[in-house]
Amino acid sequence: MAWLEVHEYGVQGWSGGLDSSERARHYCRELERGAILFFSVLPFDFPEDERKLLLSLTAKDSRFHKNISYRPGSDILRGLDDSENLPQVHNVMRRYAAEIRRFVAGFLTHYADKLQMDYASFRPLEEEGRNLPLHKRNDLLHVDSFPSRPTRGSRILRVFTNLNPEKARVWKVGERFPKLAERYAEQAGLPSFTRRSRVLEGLKKGLSRLALPVPDRAPYDRFMLHFHDWLKENSGFQKQAEGKERLEFPPMATWLVFTDGVPHAALSGQFAIEQTFIIPVGALVAPEAAPIRVLERISGRAMA
Ligand SMILES: [Fe+2]
Repeated sequence: MAWLEVHEYGVQGWSGGLDSSERARHYCRELERGAILFFSVLPFDFPEDERKLLLSLTAKDSRFHKNISYRPGSDILRGLDDSENLPQVHNVMRRYAAEIRRFVAGFLTHYADKLQMDYASFRPLEEEGRNLPLHKRNDLLHVDSFPSRPTRGSRILRVFTNLNPEKARVWKVGERFPKLAERYAEQAGLPSFTRRSRVLEGLKKGLSRLALPVPDRAPYDRFMLHFHDWLKENSGFQKQAEGKERLEFPPMATWLVFTDGVPHAALSGQFAIEQTFIIPVGALVAPEAAPIRVLERISGRAMA
């Protein structure tokens, strides 16, 4: 399957004479069904001096030891101690996030009105050989779920660019969510998540009657968080080769992927930048392929 290369969209928008709304719909559908959309050159504006500033960070200052993250909603930058570069890096990340939004809204017009911006991140560390706790390891196959931001079934769309001028970013990907869930969701305990939800509903009602804060985590979010960890812990799944592919994203390539539906692992590479979007189920072209719908079909229960 590898990736699906997009030739007819670039910095200037769609090539002439194309029915852009039909093309956008086609690409949304492919993405939602598990395709990785690939651009060999930047499909959005990212000035060279801004890219160079990001690439210079490790050389100048090795004090940071994690990703640099940017929250567009609150305009907050995290993860950089280097006070000398901080205002410039903040500006670069702010402009990058706004430009990626413009790109996605112009390319995937079907989502344009419903796009919710999540965080952006710059990943300055070499992925190979990072010493991280098991659940945080990027080199183990997993589907994404964010502990601090439950989606209640909305999907996680991420736009990555390999800013490394010389080295590819290497991923492994696995069989897509419908097959993955069919094979593993019950083993991972899906029925207990839908059963427990009835107990929780009673508890939530009790809390709200007492005017106490009610935890807002749907069975879907609880299962997806658990599944993320379960897949990483499962050495049988990690070793099994069926349906797995190695992808090498060359320097300056950009790729879009629904990371809640495409199991992925970053094996090596340094200097990727990424913006995450949340897409509500109501905006999807192929909602039947959304992980929440797949899990609801398997369990026979509503999960939002
Ligand atoms: Fe991930």
